[in-house]
Amino acid sequence: MKTSVAIYPGSFDPVTNGHLDLIERGEKMFDVLIVAVLRNAEKQPLFTVPERVEMLREVTKEWRSVEVDVFDGLLVDYARKRGAAVILRGIRAVSDYEYELQMALMNRKLEPRLETVFMIPGEPYSYLSAIAQHGAPLKGLVPAIVEARLRAKMS
Ligand code: PNS
Repeated sequence: MKTSVAIYPGSFDPVTNGHLDLIERGEKMFDVLIVAVLRNAEKQPLFTVPERVEMLREVTKEWRSVEVDVFDGLLVDYARKRGAAVILRGIRAVSDYEYELQMALMNRKLEPRLETVFMIPGEPYSYLSAIAQHGAPLKGLVPAIVEARLRAKMS
């Protein structure tokens, strides 16, 4: 039987309820879903890669087919290494589209067999970005353990 392996790549700095919503949807669609954290993505991340991985593992532990991993270099190389046929990405608003289109087309050019699949997260999560830096209320936007970590980091 064919096993479908999908990769959900990102910075996950930190994981939000919007990410979790997408992981939950992806987990239902694919046999294996690899949540892959890009190493060295941003110059000044809020959380270190090990911290981000630890939080992701904690909030995804109920799903046996979800794996959390770290990658560097090109996503297509990592996808080949992991035997993945699909890249999963979330699109919230129209403003995400241009960036996602460029990335999907570039990845297709680099590896035509790799398909990018877009999903739309639940409506309440659609307008969430850069929440922590602005000191906005966090309740309901991030998992409880992430909220505690963010508060500790901010104080
Ligand atoms: O959560 P983000 O920061 O929007 O995720 C972006 C990510 C990690 C998916 C993207 O930057 C990426 O895939 N980087 C790896 C380098 C790569 O493969 N670049 C070519 C595609 S444009």
